[in-house]
Amino acid sequence: MKFLTLDTGCCHAGFRQSGLFCWSVVGPVSKERDIPDKYTAFAPFYDAFSGEYPVYRAGRDRGIEALAPRPGDEVLDVGCGTGLNFPLLQERIGPAGMIVGIDRSARMLEQARRRAARAGWKNVILIQADAVLLDAAAIRAAIQEQGGSPECDAALATYSLSLMPEWQRAWANLKALLKAEARVAVVDMKDPEGWARLLTPLARAACALGGADITAHPWLAVEEDCTNVIRSSARAGHLQIRAGNLHRNHPDRPPGPGSVPQIT
Ligand SMILES: C[S@@+](CC[C@H](N)C(=O)[O-])C[C@H]1O[C@@H](n2cnc3c(N)ncnc32)[C@H](O)[C@@H]1O
Repeated sequence: MKFLTLDTGCCHAGFRQSGLFCWSVVGPVSKERDIPDKYTAFAPFYDAFSGEYPVYRAGRDRGIEALAPRPGDEVLDVGCGTGLNFPLLQERIGPAGMIVGIDRSARMLEQARRRAARAGWKNVILIQADAVLLDAAAIRAAIQEQGGSPECDAALATYSLSLMPEWQRAWANLKALLKAEARVAVVDMKDPEGWARLLTPLARAACALGGADITAHPWLAVEEDCTNVIRSSARAGHLQIRAGNLHRNHPDRPPGPGSVPQIT
């Protein structure tokens, strides 16, 4: 397993170690990187107290089912947190595949690193970076340096884009790391529907506690940018799931041999 730090700001390269943390610093480094957010303190308790089994696991299951990564695929997990998606992804991609987990929180990544170490996975690349601010070229280079492919086959963002005030920029960055027509999936939250509207204050409080904007609705980007869109919801509409194939030659794709239509 590989653990990298990539960020924005002044240039820095080297190796960084602190207690349990051990990772390469391979890119520019932000002055803000070490400012703790709520996920810094909460990281060791996230899996137990985030409502995973009563609520959020249902969206994760459906999102990965809709994403349908294939054996050998390289899957980008944006805002991967502690890696709760990883076991479900591993079941599908197998040892020939690769997971690239990006998160801005070193503490969340440390939990993801421990998960991968416990399971003995050798096919996980972890990168500390801000999904909104990242430089896609630097991330691609770092993935490649660690034995991955610079363009991923698929990407997912579960309960992460709604935490990013400028999630559209993170979405554009995500697309810039993918192959043409890659599969993408977004799982995120909104107010519950029907009888469950009674639970709206609870849903809003849970989102606010986690720092998420329940009105962000980032899955709309999948509706806009993809074909073959699969739409699904769970927990009385509180969890929204969308997956699809990016349009070929989407504007965020870097120029390259695969990015222009081939005339045969
Ligand atoms: C609610 S957790 C979800 C984690 C994981 N995707 C899951 O399904 O369990 C949100 C994660 O997004 C990360 N995050 C928030 N803003 C971010 C940003 N701008 N760039 C990268 N990661 C970010 C947080 O550090 C946190 O780990």
